[in-house]
Amino acid sequence: MPLVNVKEMMDKARDGHYAVGAFNINNLEWTKAILLTAEELKAPVILGVSEGANKYMTGYKVVADMVKAMIETLNITVPVALHLDHGTYEGAQKALAAGYSSVMFDGSHYEIEENVEKTKEIVALAKKLGATVEAEVGSIGGEEDGVTGRGEVADPAQCKMIADLGIDILAAGIGNIHGQYPANWQGLDFETLAKIKDACGNMPLVLHGGTGIPEDMIKKAISLGVCKINVNTECQLSFAAATRAYIEAGKDKEKKGFDPRKLLAPGTDAIKATVKEKMEMFGCIGKAN
Ligand code: 13P
Repeated sequence: MPLVNVKEMMDKARDGHYAVGAFNINNLEWTKAILLTAEELKAPVILGVSEGANKYMTGYKVVADMVKAMIETLNITVPVALHLDHGTYEGAQKALAAGYSSVMFDGSHYEIEENVEKTKEIVALAKKLGATVEAEVGSIGGEEDGVTGRGEVADPAQCKMIADLGIDILAAGIGNIHGQYPANWQGLDFETLAKIKDACGNMPLVLHGGTGIPEDMIKKAISLGVCKINVNTECQLSFAAATRAYIEAGKDKEKKGFDPRKLLAPGTDAIKATVKEKMEMFGCIGKAN
């Protein structure tokens, strides 16, 4: 199946009361692990790519072409969206030109008027190409690939203003942060989430910072309109732990254990396990059709 945008998968998730996982990719192993898990579990999936990861993989075109080719050669039949995560104004345009099926334009650091103007331009461009757009109000706390947010809680009135610009999905800060949550984290602000849902009606909402959010909070967020949940750090941590265990057990020194196809295999399997765990929690298994 060719890449799809997120429109239909988000509508189905909202109506079916589950969320689709958006997992960040960093390289070929990451991409393969996530695609194979989604296919095995018959789950729709969104591959998120930060601008930093795009640069690491040498560019938007390389990423888009790799993902498209991998979908074909692995016979992936579930819906897959390729989504720019936390895109800048310029990055969103480049990703769309390279064939991304969805982009996030993160204008949360602009004053609201400028965020509105730039979001409108990205929406117009995306519409022409059949792609979808995610916008953000109230920055997500923590740091991801050099993008640092202060962890503001979004203003529901501003959410409504941005939601009315023709975007397809809306990320709103509700006390969520990228990376691991500190021990004194106050949890998600469900009161604000409920107000945002009231203000924005049917707009599918996005929860960033999915790593480490407990299951009861995930379920409650889904009941309040969250249809897409982003996970990055948790896959990185499980990949690193499995790779560390392999090396600490001296396996890279046994026979050809240093071959990258062997060395990276435990980490790749660990990503699969994490993705599966998250998909179970989000309720999206078996929802590909
Ligand atoms: P985590 O790294 O906390 O899982 O957040 C991922 C994310 O929100 C990507 O945009």
